[in-house]
Amino acid sequence: MTVRGRFITLEGIDGAGKSSHVSYIADRVREKGRHVVETREPGGTKAGEAVRAIVLHEAMDVRTEAFLMFGARTEHVVRVIEPALAAGDWIVCDRFTDSTFAYQCGGHSLPRAMFEALERAFEPAPKPDATFLFDLAPELAFERQRGQQRTPDRFEREQIDFFRRVREAYLERARNDPKRVHVVDASGPLDQVRANLERLLVPVLA
Ligand code: TYD
Repeated sequence: MTVRGRFITLEGIDGAGKSSHVSYIADRVREKGRHVVETREPGGTKAGEAVRAIVLHEAMDVRTEAFLMFGARTEHVVRVIEPALAAGDWIVCDRFTDSTFAYQCGGHSLPRAMFEALERAFEPAPKPDATFLFDLAPELAFERQRGQQRTPDRFEREQIDFFRRVREAYLERARNDPKRVHVVDASGPLDQVRANLERLLVPVLA
């Protein structure tokens, strides 16, 4: 019988440097001889990427935002994540349901009861086996993004108070699920963040 794979997610506010660690984690998993699927949310499927293009750039009510995030997630879970886990592959996913809690509930004040109802109503998503939350002060994240050339999306254009609320919601999630959510201090230079990550990653890969 095939042993089910493992599901790893990365989270953090914009500018936390999270995306640069996706391929690092995937490489570390490969070293263990496992097959890895690297993916992201919103996205990960053709329909999900189409949703991403809309939700990141068109103004909308937070309830619409949440519906679209959960809709894209359903496609992702049904078509990519579940089949891969069932086949024994490991998943390394840039953002997942914690992002919806942090950005829509924390950042945009979606009522938590609505978040919970949506979580129940949409295709039940697997709970990640491990989540790495790259944590740093929004002031620092802003500083890091200052030199970026590309045009910021709708979320990246938010003010600092928005990111303070997103960060708090993430940390609340970590406090409520400390076995799953590993908080990585992302305030230092890249090699230091990587070392912090590596320390927390070793037991997850064991
Ligand atoms: P991000 O993953 O940071 O990609 P990039 O590095 O290309 O900017 O961008 C995705 C944005 O979508 C990010 O600002 C957070 C937001 N988001 C939500 O608001 N809710 C969600 O459920 C998810 C998955 C993402």
